[in-house]
Amino acid sequence: MKTSFTDLIGSKYPIIAGPMFLVSDETLVTAACDAGIVGACPSLNWRTTEQFRQALKTIKQSVGTKPFAVNIIVNKSNLRAEPDLKACLDEGVPLFVTSLGSPKQVIADAHKNGAKVFCDVVNVEYAKKVQDLGADGVIAVSQGAGGHAGPISSMVLVPYLKKHLSIPIVAAGGIATGRGLAAALALGASAVQIGTRFIASTECRVNESYKKAIVAAEPEDIVLTSRISGTPATVIKTPYIEKVGLDLNPIEKWLLNTNRTKKWAKLLVNLRGMKWLEAAATRTTWKEVWSAGQGVGLIDQVEPVATIVQHLISEYEEAVNGLPHAKP
Ligand SMILES: Cc1cc2nc3c(=O)[nH]c(=O)nc-3n(C[C@H](O)[C@H](O)[C@H](O)COP(=O)(O)O)c2cc1C
Repeated sequence: MKTSFTDLIGSKYPIIAGPMFLVSDETLVTAACDAGIVGACPSLNWRTTEQFRQALKTIKQSVGTKPFAVNIIVNKSNLRAEPDLKACLDEGVPLFVTSLGSPKQVIADAHKNGAKVFCDVVNVEYAKKVQDLGADGVIAVSQGAGGHAGPISSMVLVPYLKKHLSIPIVAAGGIATGRGLAAALALGASAVQIGTRFIASTECRVNESYKKAIVAAEPEDIVLTSRISGTPATVIKTPYIEKVGLDLNPIEKWLLNTNRTKKWAKLLVNLRGMKWLEAAATRTTWKEVWSAGQGVGLIDQVEPVATIVQHLISEYEEAVNGLPHAKP
């Protein structure tokens, strides 16, 4: 499967196992790379930059020359953006995924190092900005994606970006099968980024109840909540999510919108959200806050990453071969 993405990045398949906070570790990244796709992790999955640097060394040793990616959050609230970027440059990370904020510094430094940068985007305005800054590609994060989902359906977002950009587009959101991969490539994407499907993998080290919840959930069980970070994010509707509600309370909103308190309020909301996510991802708790996208409806079992990738490829071929051919 050759696309402009595989040509640029050098992976066997045009698939990224998306970086996932509290989920993607050395084991998951290595399993993805071994299966012929690009493993990715957020730098913030390690408590300190030094621990992150050690993890990069382990990943590099395990994957050899296979490409992998690191996600750096580039907004002002990430105080580790600079040291984490330096660790990536020192360790020769070949691909960066940036999210939130301006990717200017990452693009400049990564390019000096011979690395590539793909930026998360949810609309064409921001996508054009990152293209002008020199991004090598964009990740089109659409409605229903796991994490901070965008507002636009992938059916529109991918061809819309294709119409306006000249750099490769990676489709993200709701892709969990080979049919989704085929559809994304037909829409004009050069690759896909898949998150939720890989949470339900044998190698993923989250709590078993999180994996079971993903297998059991229907697309209708996915709701958008602002309570985790202040920005709408997708989670499984559990009794705890129903209890705490999906929106911030009026006082939190006021604190977030007032200049004097904005920064600290954001930090506190984030901290509470991270604590919920961490507890639910690592142990059994009644505070079930599980981040996942609408693709849950397409996930029926927990399988090894290599098996998931084999299915993606065989289903892709089946989907493409099953399409009606236009008669002359
Ligand atoms: C639990 C979870 C955590 C995520 N954390 C991050 C993150 O830290 N950084 C990031 O760029 N994307 C993050 N994402 C988004 C994924 O990388 C990917 O774009 C998304 O999951 C694709 O949609 P899908 O889940 O429908 O496949 C996260 C997604 C999930 C499900």
